[in-house]
Amino acid sequence: MIPVAKPLVGKEEVEAVRKVLESGMLAEGKVSRELEKQFAGYVGTKFATVTSNGTTALSTALEAMDIQPGDEVITTPFTFIASANTIAMLGAIPVFVDVERDTYNIDPDLVEKAVTKKTKAIMPVHIFGMPCDMKRIMEIAETHGLMVIEDAAQAHGAAIGGKKIGSFGHTAAFSFYATKNMMTGEGGLIVTNDEDIYDRANMIKNHGRGKEGGYSHFRIGYNNRMTDISAAIGIEQLKRLPGVLAARRKNAQAYDRLLSELKGVRPQVQRKGFESAYHVYAPCLYSDKMSRDQMVEYLKQNEVGSRTVYALPCHKQDTYLNISQWRWAKFVKYPKYSAMKLPVSEEIGARHFEIPVHAMVTDADRAHIDQVIRKALS
Ligand SMILES: Cc1ncc(COP(=O)(O)O)c(C=O)c1O
Repeated sequence: MIPVAKPLVGKEEVEAVRKVLESGMLAEGKVSRELEKQFAGYVGTKFATVTSNGTTALSTALEAMDIQPGDEVITTPFTFIASANTIAMLGAIPVFVDVERDTYNIDPDLVEKAVTKKTKAIMPVHIFGMPCDMKRIMEIAETHGLMVIEDAAQAHGAAIGGKKIGSFGHTAAFSFYATKNMMTGEGGLIVTNDEDIYDRANMIKNHGRGKEGGYSHFRIGYNNRMTDISAAIGIEQLKRLPGVLAARRKNAQAYDRLLSELKGVRPQVQRKGFESAYHVYAPCLYSDKMSRDQMVEYLKQNEVGSRTVYALPCHKQDTYLNISQWRWAKFVKYPKYSAMKLPVSEEIGARHFEIPVHAMVTDADRAHIDQVIRKALS
């Protein structure tokens, strides 16, 4: 079976971890500072701060941006549920707007229509590594005085016109989960150009401590820190990232060419000037030959790893259908998620299927996948 996702780990990561273990300094420290410096340099922001995972990167950044209970944050329903949950965790209200059929990303026209007096921020999610239309989103934010937090959990190395994803919004959050384009097992990171947000994020992730550390505390905070063991892996993975991206893009281009020759299947579209990080390659199936679920089964039977990712968009998940049970529902009026119709997200949810695009897919694997998909649709 060609796995649908696979971490790329070499002796460099093992050696880097060994050094940290032998140093006796395991918690977040010097190695984490180095990862932050290098990652900020890579993305092109002034500041970066590591966290325990992508979820805590989002929640810490939202809190550092002063998102308050009852504030509305506009986001996409076609995402991993952490995007929406980090908004809801703070007592803020995830306002879902539909996505574009070609890019699977939040539709800026619908973002603009959804702005109300209560809107505080926009959270575009670069889904599967495909950049959102950040120019439009930043224009809308500026017009209405809103903050923007990019959910870049899947988009390490993605870019628009050469400018890296993560450098457009007021903040951005990355995930280093085991199967991401760059990983630390579990881990996350916030980037920003705003020193106040950076300072607040550093306090929030570390029990409200000030810069000098120690046992003086200045605000409620959490332990959302990374370890230097993870950071050491991250530094090695960042070195690998350009090669990983080149391999993923080569695989994706080959699949795009294949799908352009076939009927009843359509890829996520990379617009001109946009560079996806191709964390996931998941076309939509519109064939009368087989259903999407049959396609996933057929691929698996033929040794090609496949799955659906967000078959249920967030507004269709029990979490949001039962939002009245969430502790903040006593204080905050949520929209009736069960009545929400977001047809494009639901359509993509029902029709997409993932195929392996990771850096360890070989030419022989790709030739096999090509043949299996051609056979399925011929
Ligand atoms: C779009 C998106 N947002 C947030 C997250 C949360 O990241 P983590 O799993 O590292 O907490 C993920 C992780 O898969 C994600 O894909």
